[in-house]
Amino acid sequence: MKYNLGLIGYPIKHSLSPWIHEQFFRRTNIEGTYSIFEIDSHRSFSEAIKQLKSKNLHGFNVTVPYKEKILDYLDELDGQAEQIGAVNTVLCKNGKWIGYNTDGTGYVRSLLTKFPSLEKNNNLKILLLGAGGASKGIYYALIHKGFRNVSIANRSTEKAQNLLDNQTIGNVLTLNEAEKTLSEFDIIIQTTSVGMKPHEEKKIISLTNVNENVIVSDIVYQPLMTAFLQEAKSLHRSIHFGHTMLLYQAQYAFEIWTNTRPEMEKLDEQLQIILEG
Ligand code: ATR
Repeated sequence: MKYNLGLIGYPIKHSLSPWIHEQFFRRTNIEGTYSIFEIDSHRSFSEAIKQLKSKNLHGFNVTVPYKEKILDYLDELDGQAEQIGAVNTVLCKNGKWIGYNTDGTGYVRSLLTKFPSLEKNNNLKILLLGAGGASKGIYYALIHKGFRNVSIANRSTEKAQNLLDNQTIGNVLTLNEAEKTLSEFDIIIQTTSVGMKPHEEKKIISLTNVNENVIVSDIVYQPLMTAFLQEAKSLHRSIHFGHTMLLYQAQYAFEIWTNTRPEMEKLDEQLQIILEG
């Protein structure tokens, strides 16, 4: 069987997803293609979706700005995607389009692969910086994995409050409060676009007060070494790079489409080389 897969979004000409899925096809010996279907944001989305349907794909990824817009065109929705209210992966099966969200689970997979000892420790105190779409995905994936102590700090605390679920015992904090109480946290995850090119000098908060054994993580991967991670590194703390989330959300999507989990060995380093040009 040959899989026809792809990606919709705008702009996506420089997306790394075709490269990643090409590696997965090779590693699994599965035959397939992964194509880019750029949908200009000025075009009619429903018209573009009609055209996409006629391509008889086995599945596709959805990226900015269509992760919410795609919901109206799906026949079924996976539980986690429903909680998040956004879809980044569609499985086309028996004439139906089924929506999933692999971003948060992909992030948690990347974290636990790099730091396997975290898996047995559900009491760890985790701080999410940011309360947007990315934060939401990671938040629900952490809960799903059994982590209960998750706090959220955001510029607007109202948004963080809306995200915080009753099942968790974390707090809502302002960014200032987070900065002052950083030493309480075992894992700090930066989920906003702050620090992304061309504003690589920007840092959402200062890490001066972090504790000795903390893991500092940033989902930004352009640049790979953000100012935020650079500060953690200069304090000799453990760091976790953003590009690994990209790899593992893709791994989970590939699994949904093909029922096969690709081997990830050395992919992290290979993608790092591409990103560093
Ligand atoms: P995404 O889907 O990438 O998460 P989003 O849903 O627009 O994007 O969310 C952006 C997040 O980044 C929000 O938490 C936002 O904070 P507010 O809710 O207060 O707007 C945060 N953010 C963006 N720019 C920021 C900045 N300069 N400083 C602090 N937080 C910022």
